[in-house]
Amino acid sequence: MIRRMQKEDVPKVIAVHLASFSGFFLSFLGPRFLLLYYAGICAASEGIAFVYLDPAGEPAGFVAGTANPRGFYSRLLKRDWLRFSFASLGAICRKPNTIRRIARAFFHPSENPVGKDVAGLFSIGVLPEVQGGGAGKQLVSRFLEEASARGCTRVFLTTDRDNNESVNTFYQRLGFFIGRQYETPEGRRMNEYWIEI
Ligand SMILES: CC(C)(COP(=O)(O)OP(=O)(O)OC[C@H]1O[C@@H](n2cnc3c(N)ncnc32)[C@H](O)[C@@H]1OP(=O)(O)O)[C@@H](O)C(=O)NCCC(=O)NCCS
Repeated sequence: MIRRMQKEDVPKVIAVHLASFSGFFLSFLGPRFLLLYYAGICAASEGIAFVYLDPAGEPAGFVAGTANPRGFYSRLLKRDWLRFSFASLGAICRKPNTIRRIARAFFHPSENPVGKDVAGLFSIGVLPEVQGGGAGKQLVSRFLEEASARGCTRVFLTTDRDNNESVNTFYQRLGFFIGRQYETPEGRRMNEYWIEI
């Protein structure tokens, strides 16, 4: 039911992303940006990405991240900056402030935890009609297995602290603990979760 994400899966992964992450910044950037984002993670040697297949063999869930989180977004954007720029134009026209957030990811690499032993889980989504059936748990478990195979001993992720009880419960049920709480420049209060593997 779980296999590595391939480039051909990306259009379906985008559909799952848009269905499960409504109202999130990456979704606002639109399908063309998401295509470059997930295809970039698939292609990067440090990328870790899997899909959950429904009985018909179609991706109904996915997980994506990296075995080298520090500066990952910045490297991804710089590798394909021209196409990312074009892909962002629609979102920038709709909301000009978007450019500041993209520029920050580009010029100021995140302060993601660093270390050869650290992996970052950046995105996980399951189609609403499939949620609650164990797909998310299987995806996280496969992600941790792969991170371990790549020599990582710890995995972190971030999620909203407010109005996000189900996702926080999900990670806590899987054994993640809160290592840090912080606020983004946009004023979002975040939980940074960790798990030892
Ligand atoms: C978060 C998400 C990936 C979970 O996937 P899922 O397939 O629904 O989760 P599972 O069915 O594997 O559940 C795993 C565990 O979490 C618990 N859980 C899942 N959703 C829950 C909810 N809404 N409330 C309480 N517990 C929940 C389950 O009970 C289960 O616990 P158990 O193993 O002790 O029985 C999925 O709900 C989703 O795609 N959400 C929208 C996108 C999103 O917010 N992603 C995370 C961004 S950081």
